[in-house]
Amino acid sequence: MAGKFTSSTQAIPKVAGVPRHIAIIMDGNGRWARKRYMPRVAGHKRGLETVRAMVKACIARGVEYLTLFAFSSENWRRPAEEVSFLLGLFVGALQGEIDKLHVNDVRLKVVGDLSAFEPRLLALIREGEAKTANNSRLTLTIAANYGGRADILQAVNQLALAHPEKAGCFGETDLAPHLLLAYAPEPDLFIRTGGEQRISNFLLWQLAYSELHFTDTLWPDFDDAALDLAIASYRQRERRFGRTSEQLLEPKIAVSPAPTKLSPTTDRNA
Ligand code: IPE
Ligand code: IPE
Ligand code: MG
Repeated sequence: MAGKFTSSTQAIPKVAGVPRHIAIIMDGNGRWARKRYMPRVAGHKRGLETVRAMVKACIARGVEYLTLFAFSSENWRRPAEEVSFLLGLFVGALQGEIDKLHVNDVRLKVVGDLSAFEPRLLALIREGEAKTANNSRLTLTIAANYGGRADILQAVNQLALAHPEKAGCFGETDLAPHLLLAYAPEPDLFIRTGGEQRISNFLLWQLAYSELHFTDTLWPDFDDAALDLAIASYRQRERRFGRTSEQLLEPKIAVSPAPTKLSPTTDRNA
């Protein structure tokens, strides 16, 4: 059963200097505000400024996919006023930014369990996605009420319903098209601001081989220079995807077939 061994990370992406896909956990808004004796929500408001700046910066640098964690499925546990402020900010951002995104050739996608959102927010999301659907300069994905485990589960359920006859034999390439971010390559670079070094149920499947960059900078303070530092750190990494450094020097390593059977003495380079 080849699927069992099939890794979705067989192809080594060209390291063109700029990551094709950057995924960010935007953390530290509350602490940014507290440091200034302001309410936490003031930090979220400032955080939205950083979102605008980062969309611009990613376009300028040739990044093709930017995925931002805006609201986790666990963030409902926050005080009701904060949750409601965050949702209101989202509504306002959609109302105010869609046209600008469209003019800048940005395609908007929103992923997560959107069924929890009120109809007005849902309609704005759908409208924004539809309007920008054919744009191609940058795909901006907002993860809202998103959870990595829930994403994998919904994909498994979809797959099992679509192909009950293959149950027990599913491979990674069968599952991947059912994930919410199926339209995007896996993130090359993952950034978390705010000092914590954890994934917090973000893209659990897709981050398997991403380069991880953690910074103490709080999200409202994250700027072009901080982004360039993260990209510079990414450029220094050697992405091996399980191979050895020597193998990477070989010219034809770009795509290697999934091994079916290997004996311990088999000399395979791939
Ligand atoms: C991230 O900032 C924004 C969201 C989770 C919506 P936080 O609100 O988590 O800020 P800190 O971590 O409390 O500083
Ligand atoms: C993660 O931030 C979620 C978002 C940035 C939307 P949190 O601040 O909620 O994460 P934890 O709970 O501290 O890990
Ligand atoms: Mg936080």
